[in-house]
Amino acid sequence: MNALIDIRDIYKIYNPGENEVRALDGISLSVTHGEFVAIIGQSGSGKSTLMNMLGCLDVPSSGTYCLNGADVSKMKDDELSDIRNKEIGFIFQGFNLIPNLTAIENVELPLIYRGISKAERRELAQQALEMVGLSHRMDHKPAEMSGGQQQRVAIARAIAAKPPVILADEPTGNLDSRSSKEILQILRELHTLGRTVILITHDNEIAAQAKRVIRIRDGKVEEDYLNEIQDVKDSNTKDSGKNRKEVSDIKGSQNQYHKENEKDTEESLDKKEEENI
Ligand SMILES: Nc1ncnc2c1ncn2[C@@H]1O[C@H](COP(=O)(O)OP(=O)(O)OP(=O)(O)O)[C@@H](O)[C@H]1O
Ligand SMILES: [Mg+2]
Repeated sequence: MNALIDIRDIYKIYNPGENEVRALDGISLSVTHGEFVAIIGQSGSGKSTLMNMLGCLDVPSSGTYCLNGADVSKMKDDELSDIRNKEIGFIFQGFNLIPNLTAIENVELPLIYRGISKAERRELAQQALEMVGLSHRMDHKPAEMSGGQQQRVAIARAIAAKPPVILADEPTGNLDSRSSKEILQILRELHTLGRTVILITHDNEIAAQAKRVIRIRDGKVEEDYLNEIQDVKDSNTKDSGKNRKEVSDIKGSQNQYHKENEKDTEESLDKKEEENI
């Protein structure tokens, strides 16, 4: 199966010269359609830089990035924004909602840039808000909602246009543990529905709930392994860190994993069609 995301030897170097910072220092990785990946690393390890790169918000100093077969590393700004609009849903730690718009208006906003008609925008925004359990808060403004609810609006905004890739940078960083669990549950559901979910975190317990974990350190991949969780819904976050396999050691297992993943995706696409989500 072709990789959805394929980055090769990506460098991002700030202030080249004596005081240079190698935020990304020769990273290569690929992510297949429908994977649920956590990217974990300490503060300053390069997670957000990598997310910005994956999300076409930034371009690398060198290296190549193919998204869905297209080489985005050499694209111009307008082409990048087009790709961002069509392919990627972003979720940020700070929610980034517009304060004077209601929940549904916030969700509808990016759909305007995609040229979607008013009636369809409303329909898609309602579906997305229902999926995150907020049908009863559609007309509330961000200040009238809890942090967890605001983050759910931000997720609805990210998924309303049904982008194949969901990128979440520390989406639970500002939330209490109950709200964090709800957000993770929604991300798992999106994965079950066939979306590719990339979750950035510095928290081992959160990473343990993803199927695959990529640990980065000093702008390089330090580890890349699969959590041995057959059904992520049943994951035991305390122990799952022990139950893992190094991706580089287990090509066979990874292939098996991708086969399972393909099956998941096919099933979930059927389900998605049935549910029209
Ligand atoms: N615009 C910039 N100019 C110079 N250095 C930068 C810039 N942006 C990031 N860096 C540096 O690049 C490195 C990686 O930063 P990045 O924001 O990707 O880390 P992170 O893993 O997301 O950290 P955190 O967990 O704190 O969010 C850090 O050392 C940071 O200081
Ligand atoms: Mg960061």
